[in-house]
Amino acid sequence: MSFSEATFDRVFAIAGWAPSAHNTQPWLPQVSSLSGSSATLTVRVDPERTLPVTDPHAMDLGLSLGCWVEAANIALGATGARIEDVRVLGEGHGIWLELEVAEVGAGAHETDSGASFEPAEVLDRQVDRGKLVPRTDRLEEALAQFAKTNFAYTSGPIASAQIPEATWSASSRYAQAAALSPREALDETLEWLRLDDTDPRYYQDGLTAETLRIPRAVARTGARLVRAGSDTLLNAVSRTGVWSTMLPTFTSRKAPDRVVLALHRDHASQVSAEDWVQAGRDLLRLWLILARHELRVAVESQLKDTPLSAAMLCDVLRRTDPHGSFVPFAVFSVGESTSEVPKSHRLVE
Ligand SMILES: Cc1cc2nc3c(=O)[nH]c(=O)nc-3n(C[C@H](O)[C@H](O)[C@H](O)COP(=O)(O)O)c2cc1C
Repeated sequence: MSFSEATFDRVFAIAGWAPSAHNTQPWLPQVSSLSGSSATLTVRVDPERTLPVTDPHAMDLGLSLGCWVEAANIALGATGARIEDVRVLGEGHGIWLELEVAEVGAGAHETDSGASFEPAEVLDRQVDRGKLVPRTDRLEEALAQFAKTNFAYTSGPIASAQIPEATWSASSRYAQAAALSPREALDETLEWLRLDDTDPRYYQDGLTAETLRIPRAVARTGARLVRAGSDTLLNAVSRTGVWSTMLPTFTSRKAPDRVVLALHRDHASQVSAEDWVQAGRDLLRLWLILARHELRVAVESQLKDTPLSAAMLCDVLRRTDPHGSFVPFAVFSVGESTSEVPKSHRLVE
């Protein structure tokens, strides 16, 4: 087999379904050279699709790009090829990637890291912000499988811990308050909220009212408030407490399981852009393993981004390694969906 542009059209159409922070889909992939059974891809970042205020160290950007790379790798696996090398160039929100792709023949998607995924699994995976029922046995089985067959890309092991419910509720309270300030952070988040389903962008990117499980009437009122600006919105939020509808905390007795993943580092400044991309590849693999166990995740990045809540998560992680230092990079609830999950939209649709 030799590569054609059409092969990569298909690969990009599948990889475009990778998860990304706020569903920004920051990637701009293109084929920069093709020669027989090898190819070089360039993945640039769309500057309009970064989150400079809420993601100042470009951690979520690197993780999202990593999810795209792994999704592309899985799509390539189905064609007997794989990504052999990832070069991360540039820095901060100006990073870009060069990927070396080579044909490896049948069974290519039996990667060194064990679990082989199919493109259909990339297309079927979804986050679920509705009610999730804990299935702790299956979660533990999935985490054990992840530890055994993965960390394929991240240098050094990924630390993981289950978060006790009391710690989760306390750290969520701090993180929710932090989401409303500074004002620039709120404004940046509002840019990616899709509350008005008559806006064509509703069907392209961002966080739709449907996937946030916001009732239609509340979404319409929300859209009016967002159009009026963040001052009006903030006043309404503090009057009605609507924010707790938009960022649900699950306080019922059957709360889902909660998981934190972290790198073993003293500080986020010690983590390179390449580390984030590689951790993003592993993160997608874990979410796919969970999906195989019929489990979905609801991501709560504000818990790792708010210093006080992040410190509480590090305390939990230290129970697994009392002298360890950790930089949490993914925080999510896990459980079985209780209803059909609305599909979030993509630019590649
Ligand atoms: C690095 C990263 C951070 C994310 N952070 C959040 C978050 O804080 N809150 C949230 O609701 N979803 C978060 N998500 C999930 C995305 O919003 C979700 O993947 C995207 O909207 C696409 O939806 P889908 O995964 O169902 O296809 C995050 C995803 C990634 C990859």
